[in-house]
Amino acid sequence: MWLNLAKVEEHLSTRFVGRRIVYLTSTTSTMDVARQGAEAGAPDGTIVFAEEQTKGRGRFDRAWVSPSGKNLYLTLVIRPPLGRLRSLGIIAPLAVALAVEDSTGLRPRIKWPNDVLIDGRKLSGVLIESEISGSAVQYALVGPGINVNFDIEQSPEIAAIATSIKRELGREVSREELLAAFLNHFEALYEDAPKGDAAFQEWRSRLDTLGREVCVTFGDQLYEGTAEDVDRDGNLILVQPDGSRRIVEAGEVTLRA
Ligand code: BTN
Repeated sequence: MWLNLAKVEEHLSTRFVGRRIVYLTSTTSTMDVARQGAEAGAPDGTIVFAEEQTKGRGRFDRAWVSPSGKNLYLTLVIRPPLGRLRSLGIIAPLAVALAVEDSTGLRPRIKWPNDVLIDGRKLSGVLIESEISGSAVQYALVGPGINVNFDIEQSPEIAAIATSIKRELGREVSREELLAAFLNHFEALYEDAPKGDAAFQEWRSRLDTLGREVCVTFGDQLYEGTAEDVDRDGNLILVQPDGSRRIVEAGEVTLRA
């Protein structure tokens, strides 16, 4: 069944996030459509939502499996000041985790930096892109994909490492309520961000990665060590085998055997 936009609106309590929704039954990637919209002046808080993506993409140029009518694929256009850009990487996965918790009672964890997991399997990932000129952010694109009512066994290539809400609960849930909950949490966290570090602390407390022996890959670089902590910008602090500390801004973490 297609998304019921009136029902999304019924559950929406935001001031600007999600107040304008570009709804598509199929597209290549919501990131591409949102980028075109942002370039053409789409208002702050616009979202591009698609029922299906034919070229859904994840981090590191991976494909994001995007079957029709089952999940949530969206990209939010947001225009933050430069100083708040890094916080999007904290706020977005946290908003997903809180929305899933509200709608289902499940308690997702976060794998640094922004994968949302249930029992170690990936439920959601977020792609964040930005366009900066000089010291001003023209726009940022925040693109979460959330596996909702997806029969994940039908995609054997990801069935061992990914999950969906349906798989976890054994029943379908309302995509409309989940989407509205995500948008409500995102805006509340975004607006509260300048007031303190509550979002950072909440994100940090859900990180599965801390205290573990990890490998972090980024492009052709590989770092190993203990994931000691994260800093306020969301960087990972790694204690390397020689005892030195390395601040890692981005990358993919795997646990060391
Ligand atoms: C990841 O690799 O973990 C990030 C996955 C992001 C997928 C979402 S689905 C909506 C948006 N459009 C895309 O093509 N990708 C993101």
